[in-house]
Amino acid sequence: MKKRVLTGDTPTGKLHLGHYVGTLENRVKLQNEYEMYVLFADTHALTTLSVSPEVIKKYTRQILLDNLSVGLDPQKVTFFVESGVSEIYELAAIFSMYVSHNRALRNPTIKDEIVSKGLGEKFSLGFINYPIYQAADILCVKAQVVPVGKDQEAHLEQAREIARTINKLTNYKIFPEPRSLIGKVGKLMGTDGNPKMGKSLNNAIYLSDSREDVEKKVMTMFTDPKRVHATDPGTIEGNPVFAYFDAFAAKKDKQLVEDYKFRYKKGKVGDIEIKKGLTKVLNEFLDPIRQKRAEYENRPSLVKAILGEGTAKTKKESAKTLKEVVEKMKFSIL
Ligand code: TRP
Repeated sequence: MKKRVLTGDTPTGKLHLGHYVGTLENRVKLQNEYEMYVLFADTHALTTLSVSPEVIKKYTRQILLDNLSVGLDPQKVTFFVESGVSEIYELAAIFSMYVSHNRALRNPTIKDEIVSKGLGEKFSLGFINYPIYQAADILCVKAQVVPVGKDQEAHLEQAREIARTINKLTNYKIFPEPRSLIGKVGKLMGTDGNPKMGKSLNNAIYLSDSREDVEKKVMTMFTDPKRVHATDPGTIEGNPVFAYFDAFAAKKDKQLVEDYKFRYKKGKVGDIEIKKGLTKVLNEFLDPIRQKRAEYENRPSLVKAILGEGTAKTKKESAKTLKEVVEKMKFSIL
């Protein structure tokens, strides 16, 4: 039997090339080896405070399209939305009884996010609780493997603790101890050279960007700030144009990338020429993704059914899990 893998996105923005390199490319491969669930954590997204439920709903659809357009196959992958599986909340409520207040506050990713997201004193109770919900997201379908970024390891640790606690309490192996699959994932800097890419930084190229959007973004991309004339020798390291070449052309078009790098270092190519080259590379990469997206966009009832059926299937699985927990905990009043 195939192992079960679950991963998810928080629908607070559309997905960009950094997501492709960091997770989506990997998902496309994993869908063949594992039984795969992809969740859109819409309740979770509410912890961001600044995002309204309406906007979250819009992004949930966008992100589903992003996932489908890069080649995740709805025949193989179960897509579901967190708020459609109320068993997750019930499990999380039970789990939360066994997580101490101190333990919740000690989660290093939570501590980091309070600072990095500038939450100050304003974070909600749900924010501190979200790793417990995340444990329920994972354990409701008894997922064994969770491909995530390094920052999520702290949450996986908490999920394993919860799984162990409930197993011990009931003296029954209800849950697997889910492990993260961090692997060698790529990272991509923003178009401005910032190591972080994102909506608020306005430095991302989205999977849903048009050819013209991509051209505009590449043409205004940062390069080597010390290079004034095309005849000045240029630096490759830390230069976004070459970071993108490496990520999207190095395998397919090795010769082209080597040639650009060679000439750039020697001061024998202008920024315009390399940027035109990069625009072409990125648009050729995105064209089939755009095409697939358009096919799904033209069939809105299919898109709706993919999420609807996936959520219904997950709900059924989760109800079985919840029933098991309730029974083993002797919660049943009858
Ligand atoms: N916390 C994850 C993130 O910020 C999103 C997420 C929510 C998730 N529930 C999950 C990831 C369950 C993996 C499994 O990226």
